[in-house]
Amino acid sequence: MTQPGRVLSQFWSPLCAVGSHGPGGPNAQVCLSVFGASIVPERPRLLVVLWKGNYTHELAAASGTLAITVLGEEQAELLEPLGLHSGRDGPKLEGLRWRPTPEGDPVFEGGAGWLRCRVFDAFDLGDATAFLAAVLETGEGEGTPLRWQAAQQVVGERFLARWAEKSARDRAAAARLMRWPGPPGAQA
Ligand SMILES: Cc1cc2nc3c(=O)[nH]c(=O)nc-3n(C[C@H](O)[C@H](O)[C@H](O)COP(=O)(O)O)c2cc1C
Repeated sequence: MTQPGRVLSQFWSPLCAVGSHGPGGPNAQVCLSVFGASIVPERPRLLVVLWKGNYTHELAAASGTLAITVLGEEQAELLEPLGLHSGRDGPKLEGLRWRPTPEGDPVFEGGAGWLRCRVFDAFDLGDATAFLAAVLETGEGEGTPLRWQAAQQVVGERFLARWAEKSARDRAAAARLMRWPGPPGAQA
């Protein structure tokens, strides 16, 4: 296959903070893979793709609930604590502005919108799980949703260098685990 083109970036969702909870408390991660999955307005669903190595993945699979904050353009500073650090290494919400849903999942203040969800099915992608979630409640926020294309212009060199390092590790792990047609390493 030739190198994938930039057209694939058209499929990135707005940047979201996907939160869940466990016995150790709430946690959240950055995600650009949150997609609408219903045409029936009274039964809204989302597909949320979380990498298996993430602590939030473990919490969502065990608790079956999610809170999703659509990040606003003023919230790029959340990308470092939520997107470069793991809740496995210790609580990472300290000092951030959030409130819990009735289930205990974190919704971040100042977002462009938020949703409370119940996970009711999951599809194994090998490296990740696509969680199918029923939307129980939504709330509007302020501002314009933050997209990764725009965020990369404001996060700074230090963030981008750390992100490149982490991405290389995450991609190598995903390449080993992902479901793909044909034998490992095969082209499509
Ligand atoms: C811009 C950006 C986009 C990301 N998109 C995703 C994504 O779509 N799915 C995912 O599982 N992780 C995604 N991540 C990575 C997680 O946010 C990251 O691995 C995080 O540290 C996981 O935290 P946790 O272990 O506390 O759950 C993204 C990170 C950034 C910075």
